[in-house]
Amino acid sequence: MPLESYLAQHRQRHLDELLDLLRIPSVSADPQHKADMRRAAEYLEGRFRELGFTSEIHDTPGHPLVLAERRVAGDAPTVLIYGHYDVQPADPLELWDRPPFEPRVEDGQIVARGASDDKGQVYAHIKGAEALLDQYPDAPLNLIFLVEGEEEVSSTNLAPFVTANKERLAADVVLISDGAMLGPDKPSLTYGLRGITYTEVQVRVADRDLHSGAYGGAVPNAINVLARMIAALHDDQGRVTVPGFYDKVQAISEQERAALAELPFDDEQFLGNVGVTASPGEEGYSLIERIWTRPTLDVNGIGGGFQGEGSKTVIAAKAMAKISCRLVSDQEPVEIFGLLRDHLLALAPEGVEVEVIHLNDGRPCVVSLDAPALVTAGDAVEAVWGKRPAFVRTGGSIPVVSTFQEVLNADVVMLDMGLETDRVHAPNEHFALDNYYRGIHTSAELLRRLASR
Ligand code: BES
Ligand code: MN
Ligand code: MN
Repeated sequence: MPLESYLAQHRQRHLDELLDLLRIPSVSADPQHKADMRRAAEYLEGRFRELGFTSEIHDTPGHPLVLAERRVAGDAPTVLIYGHYDVQPADPLELWDRPPFEPRVEDGQIVARGASDDKGQVYAHIKGAEALLDQYPDAPLNLIFLVEGEEEVSSTNLAPFVTANKERLAADVVLISDGAMLGPDKPSLTYGLRGITYTEVQVRVADRDLHSGAYGGAVPNAINVLARMIAALHDDQGRVTVPGFYDKVQAISEQERAALAELPFDDEQFLGNVGVTASPGEEGYSLIERIWTRPTLDVNGIGGGFQGEGSKTVIAAKAMAKISCRLVSDQEPVEIFGLLRDHLLALAPEGVEVEVIHLNDGRPCVVSLDAPALVTAGDAVEAVWGKRPAFVRTGGSIPVVSTFQEVLNADVVMLDMGLETDRVHAPNEHFALDNYYRGIHTSAELLRRLASR
């Protein structure tokens, strides 16, 4: 098998190149890393050039994106591979065993911020394309790589770019690896993503913090008020109480329900992996139904009052919370934001100032399981892994995917390479070396099959 021997010969270099990318601290949320963002984009642009792609960095009002193309004559199919080179902040740094941007391989794992999300997965496709073009230089396939630097800050500038360049980016298939397989040695294809709407709530009751003896009993307390408002956002059945919240939710079909119940998914192990013993949530749904197919509302952070050591007798004048909702089709993020805002304002007691700020959004999506590209992807996975992939959804979000569906009208294939246990967004993020190499192989194999389809 020509692909396999090529890959075997180039393993070390494929790893080294990824480690070089992982050394660049491309944290999109932190303005201090602006220059690193550009360095990461330049690194990728250089690698694409080496492969003979035309390769460009496009500036955006935020971080640059990299667009690389390999065009062939005639009417060959076009595959657009999307990924992101930006990563989440690495803090708290003290919880890492070694510095997050000094990647190393330990016990078969590549450990570094971004190893799994998403540098390792997107780089596997770059090396997959390299292998394909080395072994099949005439492969009748147009390839476009679009690698952005703002996914972790909700891709604000990417959708406008895709829309403005829709002829150039026109593709039959959009291929993405930015998610987790069903388990080790359980390859999967993801067919649904949740969306998100992210808000900040500020509560203000007085123009300064007050002595809790002198004022306690006479004035509202911003933290007490906010806590009551938050508590009112769920009922006893675990449902979100925001009026209209569920109106546009697509109920899962009996058929999908049966398929999800068949998946080898172990609730206890899933919870045990993260030290959790109870699993509260919306009544009437299994654990994966709740994560994958139902919308949720969670407080992501809360603040106010005295948080120092010891005690301080004070009534908080101000309190704040970050609240986000994960959404499912056909909920519209902006619409849900409006419903949540109105509900929070309605919950505010008299004499209390409440402000609800909209931070960012991402739309949910599902892809059709019958799309021919998905079938081809299943065959490619089987050829490499020796088993057919499971079809899964995820509770996470990739905001631009719905734009690819709508604007490019392409079939989206989400080929998972990571694992749920990769600690993405957390200290000691890692990516299994085996998954990296198999990911490269699967990518090459899939591109080969798409070329000859
Ligand atoms: N790769 C993740 C999305 C993901 C998470 C897929 C878990 C599969 C399993 C992506 O990088 C991510 O973190 N997305 C953010 C989007 C947000 C910042 C708008 C998310 O889901 O929180
Ligand atoms: Mn990601
Ligand atoms: Mn992420």
